[in-house]
Amino acid sequence: MDNAAFSRALLDWYDRAKRDLPWRGTRDPYRIWLSEIMLQQTRAEAVVPRYEAFLARFPSVEALAAAGEEAVLKQWEGMGYYSRARNLRKAAIQIAQSGGVFPGSARELAKLPGVGAYTAAAVASIAFDEPVPALDGNQARVLSRVLAYDEPVDTPQRLREQALSLLDRARPGDYNQALMDLGSGVCTPRAPHCERCPVAAFCAALAGGDVESYPRLPPPVAKRAVKVTVVLAYQNGRILVRKRPAKGLLAGLWEFPNFSEGTLEDLLPGARVTGELPKAKHVFTHLVWNMRGVRAEVDSLPDGMRAVNAAELETLPFPTALRVYREIAQRELRGEAAG
Ligand code: ADE
Repeated sequence: MDNAAFSRALLDWYDRAKRDLPWRGTRDPYRIWLSEIMLQQTRAEAVVPRYEAFLARFPSVEALAAAGEEAVLKQWEGMGYYSRARNLRKAAIQIAQSGGVFPGSARELAKLPGVGAYTAAAVASIAFDEPVPALDGNQARVLSRVLAYDEPVDTPQRLREQALSLLDRARPGDYNQALMDLGSGVCTPRAPHCERCPVAAFCAALAGGDVESYPRLPPPVAKRAVKVTVVLAYQNGRILVRKRPAKGLLAGLWEFPNFSEGTLEDLLPGARVTGELPKAKHVFTHLVWNMRGVRAEVDSLPDGMRAVNAAELETLPFPTALRVYREIAQRELRGEAAG
């Protein structure tokens, strides 16, 4: 492979066809870091409005460091993977405490909470021109095809070495982002658009006629399924909510009382069931919640719970997993009395 010709073809295409994304007009490491965290699990088109709203609310690392956790979670609401938001805030606090100076290399960036090797490399290459490959799933897919790389890409030691040797030393940030754009719009997991790929001439998988068989994947992990009963428990026209523990799944978010084991009576002694609610399902990374809902009336407020009205419910950071039940609760709190 002619590395220089490969990166020239890739960068020529990027200069002509790059997506116009708001974090591409800046070298400010705070803005680039924020974009990369948001982009970890969310598509670029969906990130754009959330990125702008987040920056309007927290325009600098100091502003983010000064914010309370709930305010940051609220701003993050609906994007999922809330540990990203909690880690952003923790990292901002670390940076503010060390004088507001951003870590200046991939190695230092990777010490921040929530910043792994990929994100550190993306930020360092884009903000500081550090020559490090940002090897995420997209870049790994593109390179595994170009190189016809026959091992699963989840243990990418050799792929990492090859990615480094292909990387354009003069424009590492643009090179990494060119591979991101190629991976998201052209070299897609299914039905890739090889006819408009700028590096088709360099692609060993295309030459072999089996592009879609790359990357080679390891067997998928089974997800654990849990049955959850969600309780919309009303007390004098308000609804009971509680805060999830500070650690673990959906840490620190608010929720309706619910249980997977035991009974309603264990959770809310004396509760009277007044109706069945729709079923719902939410798929997490390693877990599936199969939810059913019940409506109930209670007379007393158990320890650790709060009773809120519709306006208060609106302000609490709530997991997307419970969206169906939250919408029902909002309607019921606003409109007719529950029951
Ligand atoms: N995905 C992850 N980082 C990205 C970036 N900087 N531009 C576009 N898509 C991305």
